[in-house]
Amino acid sequence: MQVQDLDREVSTKSSIADLVTTTDKNAERIIKEDILTNFPDHGILAEESGVTASDSPYQWLIDPLDGTTNFVHGLAPFCVSIALTNNNKPLLGVVSELPAGNLFWAVRDEGAYCNGEPIHVTITKTIADALLITGFAYEHDAKWETNMNLFKEFTHVSHGVRRLGSAAADLCYVACGKADGFWEIGLHPWDSAAGILLVKEAGGKVSRMDGKAFSIHDKQLLATNGHLHQEMLEKTAPAITSIAGSD
Ligand code: IPD
Ligand code: CA
Ligand code: CA
Repeated sequence: MQVQDLDREVSTKSSIADLVTTTDKNAERIIKEDILTNFPDHGILAEESGVTASDSPYQWLIDPLDGTTNFVHGLAPFCVSIALTNNNKPLLGVVSELPAGNLFWAVRDEGAYCNGEPIHVTITKTIADALLITGFAYEHDAKWETNMNLFKEFTHVSHGVRRLGSAAADLCYVACGKADGFWEIGLHPWDSAAGILLVKEAGGKVSRMDGKAFSIHDKQLLATNGHLHQEMLEKTAPAITSIAGSD
């Protein structure tokens, strides 16, 4: 089946902008069936259907369609993002970027790849030479306002800030050197778990926006090529610590 033939029958979730389609649900069902057939003891956390409980330290995090709004409107990119974690630490991350058809994957301590070729972050040294990416959660609250302000601040001092609509793709683009840094407030583990492993294995750095170590259940993150990390933290850390409940 071609991407353009997938079912775009749409309904809303938490807000008029938070969309889900039949394809999100079908993709999640197929991925879960496949995982549970091969790894019946493993746990799952999937965006549309929640937790499949297990005593295993292994848990699969599934975003069956990251960038649903783009998908509904026929705009690139949108992705399938799947990660395998061991005690909440990513071991494996796979992102299928559509409609481009790029397959990104990383295994802990074994590097990051796109279509079988090794990928690396950029060597950009300063924000003044950088292209950045961000995203916005669906809830229009204080965190959203804070990110709007960061968007302005970083746009003013960089080559620009893009809002592409798929956090998994955003992280892959940092990993493969199409962008130098990405931050977002309001992410879920299924959005970020595969992508953060890709960035780290491609030589980049991932932390919370306040500089503390990132765990997959943190909702805010900063991912860069490493060189820009401290300079970006100088703006993200005060912003994120100014708002309560940003974890
Ligand atoms: C969303 C996308 C978007 C990001 C949102 C996510 P969804 O995921 O990744 O880029 O800004 O925070 O929720 O809803 O399309 O799976
Ligand atoms: Ca998502
Ligand atoms: Ca999704």
